[in-house]
Amino acid sequence: MTDGEPRADGVARILIGDQEIQLRIGEMAIALDATYGDDVPLLVGVLNGAVTFMTDLMRAMTIALEIDFMAVSSYGAATQSSGVVRILKDLDREIEGRRVVVVEDIVDSGLTLQYLLDVLERRNPRDLRVVALLKKEKPNAIAVQVDHIGFTIPDEFVIGYGLDYAGKYRNLPYVAVLDPRIYAGE
Ligand code: IMP
Repeated sequence: MTDGEPRADGVARILIGDQEIQLRIGEMAIALDATYGDDVPLLVGVLNGAVTFMTDLMRAMTIALEIDFMAVSSYGAATQSSGVVRILKDLDREIEGRRVVVVEDIVDSGLTLQYLLDVLERRNPRDLRVVALLKKEKPNAIAVQVDHIGFTIPDEFVIGYGLDYAGKYRNLPYVAVLDPRIYAGE
């Protein structure tokens, strides 16, 4: 289904097409609607990568909800996690007693998510769940809580649908494997 889509420079191959992403998000939204009902969950998007997923997910949900964002330090221009996580932008509101859903673009080593969950858990939400569009199949990733996974993908560096390499490619409508020639010599 992805064959007809135009490829940007830097795309080695398209992994998940636009329509496939939207279909899966629809399924995830139904599951979330059913979990929260009238409880007005707070969706916490992790900037910048989860912006695309967050906006599509929230529009696919039909229950009342609120949103907020956090920014944590990412890889910069590298393709490997440094393991060092810093909060660059915190939430605008208190989450004590709230039902919180962390909305992540991708779980790779799991370090970023684990750090975020530790920080948020200390603020005593009523409950805390995680929705991630992508999870890499990585044997040595840490075991971190992810309640809903959109797609499990191979351990390759991916771009598009919010995900970047050195700040670029976020606007591709699909998820693609980055051409390794782009980061050769990194
Ligand atoms: P982790 O801490 O290794 O799980 O990495 C999490 C963060 O790294 C994600 O939220 C992304 O911002 C970024 N990241 C991890 N893998 C990729 C990738 O393949 N492409 C783009 N960004 C990635």
